[in-house]
Amino acid sequence: MIESIILELEAVTKQFTSKQCPAVNQISFQLKQGELLGLLGPSGCGKTTLLRMIAGFEKPSGGKIELAGQLVSGEKYWVEPEKRKTGMVFQDYALFPHLNVSDNIAFGLYNKKPKPSKQQIKERVSQVLQLVGLGGLEKRYPHELSGGQQQRIALARALAPQPELILLDEPLSNLDVQVRERLRHEVRTILKSTNTAAIFVTHDQEEAMAIADKIGVMQDGKLMQIGTPEQIYSSPACKFVAEFVTQANFLQATKNGNTWQTELGAWQIDSPATMNQGELMFRQEDVILQPDDGAVTVIREREFLGREYRYCLQTVSGKRLHARTDVKTQLAVGSTVKLEIIPNMAQIFPLSS
Ligand SMILES: Nc1ncnc2c1ncn2[C@@H]1O[C@H](COP(=O)(O)OP(=O)(O)OP(=O)(O)O)[C@@H](O)[C@H]1O
Ligand SMILES: [Mg+2]
Repeated sequence: MIESIILELEAVTKQFTSKQCPAVNQISFQLKQGELLGLLGPSGCGKTTLLRMIAGFEKPSGGKIELAGQLVSGEKYWVEPEKRKTGMVFQDYALFPHLNVSDNIAFGLYNKKPKPSKQQIKERVSQVLQLVGLGGLEKRYPHELSGGQQQRIALARALAPQPELILLDEPLSNLDVQVRERLRHEVRTILKSTNTAAIFVTHDQEEAMAIADKIGVMQDGKLMQIGTPEQIYSSPACKFVAEFVTQANFLQATKNGNTWQTELGAWQIDSPATMNQGELMFRQEDVILQPDDGAVTVIREREFLGREYRYCLQTVSGKRLHARTDVKTQLAVGSTVKLEIIPNMAQIFPLSS
């Protein structure tokens, strides 16, 4: 089966007049039917602005947007949000407080063409409520629901008109950790069962990794990398992606023969032949710590995270590094350790990347 392209962005840009740099800067990517894109990036990097342009709530300053093969935004061309087949779910649920669950969900169906009959609306409401596991709550009002239930109703409302694409802007960030973990798997299952393409904005790397087919990482309005969670994790395109997605460590490194020399030792790591200076990137989980009274790296902090310890280490030059080990490796704060990295998991980045 050839999956059709549901969303295509070409050099989409938004320049607010009050802002010096573009809030969204030349973003291009494609999304296929049923594909789930996790959009990650720090606060203010342009995630919401990008979603709003796709939904049609914000006009781009440049570039093209196509939804299911139809141009919806381009030079001198613009399709109103209500005519785009997108559904949006917000962080604060945004349910109408004066409408019950059934009327909240039905709201999105009144604009549908051809207009569905009362009976069809009733059937669709009950269908999407079953889909999100809340059948029977039709008559409840939003204030009579938990946060997790409200968010599932918001998802049901967005799904009811059978949109081509669902846009979710940090939909789970107002929920407590346990509800959030359960719901993120449910959201994925629901979207997959309906084969609906979606963009899911989150601050949380783990959340993006857990639910998305593809991850996009944004910084200062630009899309720095887009790829599968495995690609982003194992081959970050730049220092920012490595730092933001995996909180990787970095050490200044100089090429010495066929090894890279750092203040903690030398390792053989693949790198472009022309590079002589760089930064060695290694992830917190790709290290081996060994107690060593003669070593100069000191354990400054230790956090117990249940399945592992997270250590904060200080090197002789004063640099702070982080390492995660299984709970069998228990090292005392103040003790010294030898730090070995796993060379085939490490990467060399150019100094200024
Ligand atoms: N209507 C507007 N007018 C002027 N500047 C705006 C407007 N909306 C957003 N911005 C600016 O554009 C940039 C991107 O904002 P946006 O809300 O898209 O970020 P975000 O990645 O969603 O952040 P957060 O994670 O905090 O929600 C910010 O610098 C913001 O101040
Ligand atoms: Mg936002």
